Amino acid sequence: METKIRKLRKSEEYQEENRKTLQEAGDILKRGGLVAFPTETVYGLGADALNEEAAKKIYAAKGRPSDNPLIVHITNMAALGKIVSQIPDAARKVAEAYWPGPLTMIFEKTKIVPYGTTGGLETVAVRMPSHPAARAVIDAGGGYIAAPSANTSGRPSPTRAEHVAEDLDGRIEMIVDGGPVEIGVESTILDMTVTPPMILRPGAVTREMLEELIGEVAVDQTLLKADSRTAPKAPGMKYRHYAPKANLVVVEGEVEKVTAWIRETAATKQQEGKRVGIIATEETKESYPDGDVKVAGTRADEATIASSLYGILREFDGDGVDEIYSEAFASGGIGAAVMNRLLKAAGHQVIRIT
Ligand code: TXA
Ligand code: MG
Repeated sequence: METKIRKLRKSEEYQEENRKTLQEAGDILKRGGLVAFPTETVYGLGADALNEEAAKKIYAAKGRPSDNPLIVHITNMAALGKIVSQIPDAARKVAEAYWPGPLTMIFEKTKIVPYGTTGGLETVAVRMPSHPAARAVIDAGGGYIAAPSANTSGRPSPTRAEHVAEDLDGRIEMIVDGGPVEIGVESTILDMTVTPPMILRPGAVTREMLEELIGEVAVDQTLLKADSRTAPKAPGMKYRHYAPKANLVVVEGEVEKVTAWIRETAATKQQEGKRVGIIATEETKESYPDGDVKVAGTRADEATIASSLYGILREFDGDGVDEIYSEAFASGGIGAAVMNRLLKAAGHQVIRIT
């Protein structure tokens, strides 16, 4: 299959071309085909969520295990009413505050949502994205679009159209290229079918933000540990995701000690003939004379690190490094999502410097 790659362009003179691109994307989705498109979090791989055969194609294209349910993307609250059997008051409040945006909620599903979309579950995950291109694609495609991250299963989620092409060229009908995404880590997942509501995956909408609105919010404790015996509640969180090809180790502790440890270890490894990658920040990048140093952003704002992390992991795959050492980052706000993804990418290999 030839994958069409279509760029969306900002300036006025391209409006007609953009409209045609979005129309074409919608037509493919309505016919049961696959289209990748940008959202504010990461690129998604879309299919008609109410068409079981279409949703199944997603699993084949990504090499995704079939018990891993998909998120249904919508653009309005009327659509939510069709696919979920009950909307708790707390969910309405959260929707009012954070939809459209980087948040997914889990509800009991209605019959029109096929098990092929929910991985056999009676619940369905729903998100209303804010990205204008995502909204246009969803509407053009019929209003209910199942979309996991548009990567091959096990690779970092795509934050640019080029990442999607790397993984899925030839396996899907179209990629809508809207440039780099804004946030860079996947949406927060909040399970509204339990009391108190529970965060199954941290994202840009943080626990603090949610608690301010609806009171107590729990966090799936399995997210925080390396222990693989207890299965996380979001089936997808159990897979070794976001994994770079090289061995990745996260180094925690006081910043000066961490940089000193990484500097020395990088020098030793290089002498042994190993190629070393280092994930640093604006504040620390000068500390590393050896190794392939990539700046993830600034410690003054973890959102900068969120937006570059997945791209950096992909670059290291391209560079062919053997070992990657990453500084640990602060875990407040969106830092919780950053550290969750980084630790998963590292298979929870952490060295604590005291
Ligand atoms: O930001 C995002 O959420 C992106 C963009 C494209 O919207 N999508 C995304 O989808 O990250 P995906 O498929 O890569 O991750 C969905 C996660 C998986 O861990 C899956 O197991 C979980 O959501 N999930 C989906 N439905 C669920 C359900 N009914 N109950 C529990 N977890 C569910
Ligand atoms: Mg994913």
